[in-house]
Amino acid sequence: MLNYSKRVSDDLMQWVVAEEQFSTLTLGKCEAIMSLGNGYMGLRSATEEPYIGEKRNLFVNGTFNKFDEEEVTELPNAADLTRLDLRIDGERFSLEKGSFTGYSRMLNIRDAELTRSFDWESKDGKKLRFTFRRFVSLHHKHAIGMRMEVTLLQGDVRLSVGSGIDGQMNNSGSQHFHEGEKRIYDKTYLELLQQTTESKVTFVLHAAHSHKLNGAELNLAPRMEIERRQVAVKYELDLCEGDTYTFDKLATVYTSRDLEFSGESDLSTIRSHALEQLKALHDQGFDEMLSEHQKAWAEVWRDYDITLKSKNEFDLLAVRFAVYHLVVMTPAHDRRMGIGAKGLSGEGYKGHSFWDTEIFILPFYIYSNPRIARSLLEYRYLGLEGARRKAKENGFEGAMYPWEAAWPSDGEVTPVWGAVDIVTGEQTKIWSGFIEQHISSDIAYAVWHYFKATGDQEYMDRYGYEIILDTAKFWASRLEWDEEHGRYHINEVIGPDEYKEHVDNNAFTNYMAHFNISLAIQYCDELKEKRPELFAELNSKLGLEAARPVWEEKLGLIYLPQPNEQNIIPQDDTYLQKQIIDLTPYKNQSKVGSLFDDYNLDQVNNLQVSKQADIMMLFLLLEDRFQPEVKRANYNYYEEKTLHDSSLSLSTHSILANDFGDEALAYDLFRRAAEIDLGPNMHSSDAGIHSASLGGIWECLVMGFAGVRMLGGELHLNPRLPQAWEELSFPLYWQGSRLQIRIDRSGIRIKSSSADVIRLKVAGKPVSFEGELELPQTSGAQPIS
Ligand code: BGC
Repeated sequence: MLNYSKRVSDDLMQWVVAEEQFSTLTLGKCEAIMSLGNGYMGLRSATEEPYIGEKRNLFVNGTFNKFDEEEVTELPNAADLTRLDLRIDGERFSLEKGSFTGYSRMLNIRDAELTRSFDWESKDGKKLRFTFRRFVSLHHKHAIGMRMEVTLLQGDVRLSVGSGIDGQMNNSGSQHFHEGEKRIYDKTYLELLQQTTESKVTFVLHAAHSHKLNGAELNLAPRMEIERRQVAVKYELDLCEGDTYTFDKLATVYTSRDLEFSGESDLSTIRSHALEQLKALHDQGFDEMLSEHQKAWAEVWRDYDITLKSKNEFDLLAVRFAVYHLVVMTPAHDRRMGIGAKGLSGEGYKGHSFWDTEIFILPFYIYSNPRIARSLLEYRYLGLEGARRKAKENGFEGAMYPWEAAWPSDGEVTPVWGAVDIVTGEQTKIWSGFIEQHISSDIAYAVWHYFKATGDQEYMDRYGYEIILDTAKFWASRLEWDEEHGRYHINEVIGPDEYKEHVDNNAFTNYMAHFNISLAIQYCDELKEKRPELFAELNSKLGLEAARPVWEEKLGLIYLPQPNEQNIIPQDDTYLQKQIIDLTPYKNQSKVGSLFDDYNLDQVNNLQVSKQADIMMLFLLLEDRFQPEVKRANYNYYEEKTLHDSSLSLSTHSILANDFGDEALAYDLFRRAAEIDLGPNMHSSDAGIHSASLGGIWECLVMGFAGVRMLGGELHLNPRLPQAWEELSFPLYWQGSRLQIRIDRSGIRIKSSSADVIRLKVAGKPVSFEGELELPQTSGAQPIS
């Protein structure tokens, strides 16, 4: 069990996630949720001394490699820098031997620092106090700092510390690196150079150590070791009772994929730069590096200044945890990279990006850091190359985005085979790479959302229009004429609900394709009339003159599933005819996917059971297209049948529950969303944290409880704080102005940092102000000052 209300000090209240009992059966939880990173790289928080069942992971964003033709490209697990071989009087140190007290492992979210401490007693009565500290620098993107402090509480010992760079790592058995070059300079600076086998990305890793005894520098001569894929040193020293030994390890990670070296074919440049940097950091030392890192994080918290006064302390911690991981996983430094569904915290989903980014994470960046939102959408622009190839390979026009994306030019990278089928014993085929196609309109939607909220015309001119227009071309070519009904269908797809495969006319897919094409028509016409040069340029690239009449002809004939007599919109052509079963045992499950203990996917396909929000997602994205009573009826119908077996589900349902005025349910669903990675399930994060769910937590706050929406280009605010909350305050960028919005029981206060007139609708009524606005909660639109 984890402690979410640990009182380390007054100023760290609601900033700490702590583990106070150690078990080798649940290593994955803390490795993932306490993982460190800075967007450039992510380091899973495995303990220094190894245990069976651990996953030591170091990922560098964007460094994809394909192990062989049978596998899809993935982020390779780079050489390990964290493992220490600790021996006490010749015996390997492990918490499984001897006994220990006062165990605590903590992620300090404010400072992005991992610490672990305990007192350990060997079987022959020697007592040692261990403290470990670790951070992945936000200030220096290539640097990692580690410290171990050992105090002899009782007895004397001979301590040996083995440390190095261990390239014997793999991804569940797939070895992505060639052997590489190894060297130790001046008996101090360890170096490992390794190249990925297929993508030919060179990793340049360095490490150096320093030592202190009772606060005084200590020079220890190492024993040097170079083995296959390993370079290491071993230090030995005698410690007497009362001594404190401090061991620091600083490491740097560079790759030939780094933006600063792009186009640089000469490895020696990277190597000498990296070595120089390591030496400089080594001179600077752990403490100064840590203080620079802390300052960088203080700026993060100033930028993402969210406060929450709740009766439940966990709520604010959960929000901070979400923002922490969003920062740690996002490659804000490089537009050639996207966000992985598990961030950089585990092997799950291979570092690939899904619609998770555009629909669940991007809103956080659009409204809190538009520069990063733009970078993520530029990644999708670069991805047009792979999307166009996918369209062509499938016999379509335009841009058909890959369901799973890696390096922008890679195109589709979804693996083909997945989990076991409990009936046949064979592997289940993963169809999403072939037929989960809504991602193309999700991306077009995200571009539009970004544009409407930021007004970034330059992005649109250079990238945005092209994405919207080319995805519309894809959809127009994808539509299938249904002679019998005289309309266009989209058959044989998977919608957001992945428990329904090979369905026809998934409502979400059809409506979003319709949205995508109508947006393209609108922009095509606007550009032709007002921006003839840009239109001419896009026309010569995409053939708009020919595409426009096709869009016009098809748009009105796209089949958009309508509410039936009970107001229910069929999720697809057959969903409502499928068998309804009692889902109570699965609704009360303690681990997701328990349905598959009893049914295989084919059987699930024939039941009215959904993995995740589907129609609800549609209501959130295209909110003004549906009547409130229709939304309500569908919510009641589908919520019962939704198992939330995907982490992309609870936050959406929470936001909609709020829209319906059910704050209690909204709050309950928010809490459950927050407990996907935090919370009592000690295995939910084994393969990595859930990126989309973390974005969803921010969405619950801002889009749910504060009721922020962009509707038709207008900003809306419609707050409904849950019972447990007294106050919610958060920053929100709108059309280039940074607003700080504070909502409490007495009203709403908005402060703008710019001199512009801000226009928005509060509870549906138009308001405009400059500088600052205060509204009593009840009056909605009446400014009181
Ligand atoms: C969900 C998808 C999601 C993917 C990655 C799947 O389980 O069904 O909607 O994109 O996970 O998070």
